[in-house]
Amino acid sequence: MKKEISRKFCVAPMMGYTTPYARKLYRILSNNSFLFSEMIATKSLIYSKSRENIIDNDFNNPVALQVGGSEIEDLRKASKIAIDYNYDEINLNVGCPSKAVQKGSFGACLMRDKILVRNCMEALQNDKIEASLKCRLGLGKELNYEFFEEFIDEISKTGIKFIYVHARNAILSGISPQGNRTIPPLSYDFVKKIKNKFPNITFILNGGIKNLDEAESLLKEFDGVMLGRLIKNNPFILKEVDKKIFKEKNKLIDESIINNYFEYIKPKLGLESIFRLLSPLLSIFFSVPHSKTYRSKINDYMKDQKINLIEDLLIKFVSEKNLS
Ligand SMILES: Cc1cc2nc3c(=O)[nH]c(=O)nc-3n(C[C@H](O)[C@H](O)[C@H](O)COP(=O)(O)O)c2cc1C
Repeated sequence: MKKEISRKFCVAPMMGYTTPYARKLYRILSNNSFLFSEMIATKSLIYSKSRENIIDNDFNNPVALQVGGSEIEDLRKASKIAIDYNYDEINLNVGCPSKAVQKGSFGACLMRDKILVRNCMEALQNDKIEASLKCRLGLGKELNYEFFEEFIDEISKTGIKFIYVHARNAILSGISPQGNRTIPPLSYDFVKKIKNKFPNITFILNGGIKNLDEAESLLKEFDGVMLGRLIKNNPFILKEVDKKIFKEKNKLIDESIINNYFEYIKPKLGLESIFRLLSPLLSIFFSVPHSKTYRSKINDYMKDQKINLIEDLLIKFVSEKNLS
């Protein structure tokens, strides 16, 4: 049975960032945000010996597993794995422009073949889990609404309910994945128009949302918003989401956030790299000014795996910089 879940505020899938560890931290900070895994290639999902470390979902629901692939049988298997690991949704990546992903015939290049994407979505569908799509507006330098509408029209035939739109084109050659997140212009208007055309589909707006005030105001016009880099650079923004977006009472958040997080990662030390375990918290140093001294101390402690000292230092940092 599929559950009724709010997708009003989603944290975007980000490779190398939205690991099981980051999702644990995000969940400690917000009860209601809808979370995503990083994109996992279907082959890794099916065959990797370290699958457990890649897709572990320690009851951090609601959460979607994002996959990259276009082989029908693999997608069917991926969907079953997502159910086994208690995910609420399986999401197909049709937005990643990287060369490696194009070589594997998945990601944004699939927007060239709407029939194939439709077949992929049908392969993911299963009555125990929601199957959704994350896509761009189109391909290349020119924005073309007709292309976008024809693409969505084909996908709509699967009965899909949720589509996350990174509201810019992907340019498949000549610019990097980073450039593809800033250079092609955003068009929220395309998402507004498509939402009116397909009222049975929930469209979640993604791309360039700069702060929670903007997210809140966009929610007056859109069914949901998805934020990536803002949360990656400062996960502590999530502690405002339940109050501001979901109108819950202010949750008491203090140094226990750090304690809870360390409680989760400490038993994993030795099984997983200390960097991967700590990186969801360490990204904060890039968005908070004057944190160099902390950063270099933590680097030293990381080399010696002094996890308790790192925990103490982070608690001090968070309270000194007024993050909690
Ligand atoms: C480091 C990084 C990794 C990303 N990895 C993925 C990914 O695995 N799957 C995906 O669909 N999008 C990925 N994205 C794109 C984001 O999901 C999102 O669409 C994009 O960053 C725009 O949203 P934002 O402006 O709020 O950051 C990634 C973005 C970043 C910054």
